[in-house]
Amino acid sequence: MDLIDKLQTEGILTEDEFCRLLWTEDAALRAKLFMTAQQIALASFGKQIYIRGLIEFTNYCWRDCFYCGLRCANKKLERYRMPNEVILDCCKTGYNMGFRTFVLQGGEDRYYTDEVMCGIIRAIKHLYPDCAITLSLGERSLRSYKELFAAGADRYLLRHETADSLHYSRLHPPSYSLAVRKDCLYDLQSIGYQVGSGFMVGSPYQLTEYLSKDFEFLRKLHPAMIGIGPFIPNKDTPFRHQKAGSLELTLRCIAILRIMFPHANIPSTTALGTLHPEGRLHGILAGANVLMPNLSPIEVQQHYTLYDRIGGVDGSLAENMELLGNQLAAHGYAMVVDRGDYVPEPKKEL
Ligand code: 5AD
Repeated sequence: MDLIDKLQTEGILTEDEFCRLLWTEDAALRAKLFMTAQQIALASFGKQIYIRGLIEFTNYCWRDCFYCGLRCANKKLERYRMPNEVILDCCKTGYNMGFRTFVLQGGEDRYYTDEVMCGIIRAIKHLYPDCAITLSLGERSLRSYKELFAAGADRYLLRHETADSLHYSRLHPPSYSLAVRKDCLYDLQSIGYQVGSGFMVGSPYQLTEYLSKDFEFLRKLHPAMIGIGPFIPNKDTPFRHQKAGSLELTLRCIAILRIMFPHANIPSTTALGTLHPEGRLHGILAGANVLMPNLSPIEVQQHYTLYDRIGGVDGSLAENMELLGNQLAAHGYAMVVDRGDYVPEPKKEL
């Protein structure tokens, strides 16, 4: 029994085994890792790729995470809030292109009180009752999460970023805590959201052991969605001189997660696409099953700079969709018109 067989049967490896798998130079073992992950994704989802329309509706943030370009200390960033009509326009464009999930993502912006957010959620749900709404708004109170859920939000993305508390403290100001972040995730699950978590690969000070802790934490949380991507430096942050995470390590993490979580919705993230022109396709081939094209107007995208967009912003939505569609088609995959909800267990035949 090799490491892949063990991972598949037991759902977890020891720290030492994870580290070996992440760095193995054994070409056969590496090939088996990717092949197994791809086959599991095929068994769960076929060649259908779910799409989510990303709407980056505010880049104001009161937080100060060292890695992120939206951090409040970044005075160089031109800040914006999308008027509600623009958010609804993004949904309209997306709906007509076949999107059935909208992801409202923003910095932690106190302008968006529960009342304001609930108004936006209700407006979208009223116009597009057949669509799912995913929120990605950072840490809020249990009460707030409940209100947003009651207004119609279906899913919530909140990456834990790193499951090692010392590492967490090196990526964030001293008052932020991994424990609080985990509590938020458990709160969200208790309310009934489909919850997504995840981490950055190759973030500053990351040790391979920490990735093993990330896998372990995710196994405990058992999220409906898992978003990971390479760290990419942003020139206006304290991490401007740090190295970006690698494509290879990120792909190996995706493959490991797919083997651990056969039914989770795993996006091939924009950050992967930033590292390599076919990065997002590689993510799909390594076991991811979701793409999140950007519905935000291009003028807005250039101000939503979590990290430096090495190749500039994506082209227009239509261009981007065509490019992704062609890359997928070359391997027999296609994007589908579907909410793409999390289905924990295989559907039983009646
Ligand atoms: N590189 C890669 N990912 C980043 N994020 C924030 N800053 C960066 C960066 N410099 C990710 C975080 C956050 C998500 C919205 O974007 O993981 O949770």
